[in-house]
Formats: sequence, C-alpha cells, structure tokens
Amino acid sequence: MTEEVKAWWELTARWFQDDIDLDVGVNWTGMGVDDDLRLLLDVAGEDVLELGCGGGQCSVALAERGATVTGLDLSEEQLSFARELADEHDADADFVQGDVTDLGMFPDSTFDVAFNAYVFQWVDDLAACFRETHRVLREGGRFVFSMPHPVYGLADPESHEVAESYFDTGRQVTPQEDTELDMVTYRHSVADVHNALVGAGFRVERMLEPGSDDPDDYEEGPWGEHRPELLAKLPSTLIFEARAA
Ligand SMILES: C[S@@+](CC[C@H](N)C(=O)[O-])C[C@H]1O[C@@H](n2cnc3c(N)ncnc32)[C@H](O)[C@@H]1O
Repeated sequence: MTEEVKAWWELTARWFQDDIDLDVGVNWTGMGVDDDLRLLLDVAGEDVLELGCGGGQCSVALAERGATVTGLDLSEEQLSFARELADEHDADADFVQGDVTDLGMFPDSTFDVAFNAYVFQWVDDLAACFRETHRVLREGGRFVFSMPHPVYGLADPESHEVAESYFDTGRQVTPQEDTELDMVTYRHSVADVHNALVGAGFRVERMLEPGSDDPDDYEEGPWGEHRPELLAKLPSTLIFEARAA
C-alpha cells in the first residue's frame, strides 16, 4: 500500500513542486501559506517533527521561527527539494526518509511538537501513525495537523451534487490521463480520525474547519481542484489540535 503512494510521489514530486510553487510557510489549507490560523507560531526552542514534510516549506518556516526541526517523508525526490530549500535558507532542519506509521528511528519522548499539512489523505493506517507520534512526543506535547475535509471531495465539482458516499472510506483510486500510475489516496471519516487520536492517547483540544461563504475569498488551484463556488459552500480543510496526554 505504502509502496504505491511512494511510487506516486517519486514520479510526481517535480511537477508538484513546479505547479504548487509554495512559499516558505505552513500550507495549512492546501491553498498556500496560511498563518492567519495562528497555529504553531510560538515554537522557538522546541523540537519539532514534521510527518510528511514534502518539499520542506513548512519545516523551514518552523526552523525560521526558532525550532529545531526534523522533517520525515516517504519520497527521496521530495526530500531532495527539502534539503535544497533548507540549505538556501540556512535553516536548522534535518530531513530523513521514512514512513509516518513507523517512527522507529526516533527514541521515545524526542519531540515537543509533531505536525503536518495535507498528508493524511495518503496514509491508510492512521492509528499506527498516531500511536507512533504519541510515543515520540514528550508528555504534554502538541500534535497539530490539517487534512482534506472528507466532505469536500464528495461533491461533484460542477453540479455541487453529492456524488460519492461519505461512508465509502479507505482506498480511493483516481485514474490519471497523463501518467502511467493511478493516484491512490485514503478517505477517513471525521469520527475515525478523532477516535484514532483518542485511542493513541491524545486529548483533542480543538478542531477547525476554516472557510468563508464568499466565493471571492478563494482562487482556483493549479489543478482546478479549488472551485471558489464550491469552497464557499463546503469546508475543504479539517484541522486537529491535540495534546499527548
Ligand atoms: C501533499 S504533500 C504535503 C507536503 C507538505 N506539507 C506541503 O504542503 O507541500 C504530501 C507528502 O506526504 C508524503 N507522504 C505520503 N504518505 C507518507 C507516509 N506514509 N510517510 C511519510 N510521508 C508520506 C508524500 O511523499 C508527500 O511528500
């Protein structure tokens, strides 16, 4: 399962980085850097782990805020962008290859903060990831992440009618016209994510569903996936803030 996700990212990392052209910062909503959410601004002096760091834009941002950052990602291609970016910014960030469901390279209680943006739609076994994250966090450590809101992807982008079932969770295959690989992602219900966090020993402190009912507040994304009229009707991002109890 993880192999097909890794193969996808090795194949598409360069296109992704070129198309998305992300600034250094945390891309909480998948639509560009969004510090208006005021998440993880106060990390100076903290040991931070980014789970699925991609091209390193978020890791470098937190390093620039004074944190000591480790970014982990499945994809060597993505990690090479991250290392180059950290060098350009002279950032205090290390990057390692690995799977978020097995953090065996880190001892228990290594980090004060774990976070990521738009990674868990690629991960099947969130319960394993959350157990491992809890293990490597110090007591009271923060875990903050954003992911695509499972409701947003259910609507037909043109008609806005509900086209897929919220209850059809698990592996989703999206055929591609211009690559030899299909894109494989995973749909998780809100309850599944919440309950996996609690099961791993986290206390959920806050959930956020950022958005606005005004289509003019949005821009089209690089792949046409951000439809302003639809974004003004349904939440596209789900954010959890939790603490290792
Ligand atoms: C959409 S990118 C998001 C990265 C970054 N937060 C950003 O905003 O660009 C998703 C990243 O998750 C990584 N990823 C997917 N599944 C993973 C797994 N099981 N373990 C580690 N990284 C994973 C991919 O390689 C990819 O770099």
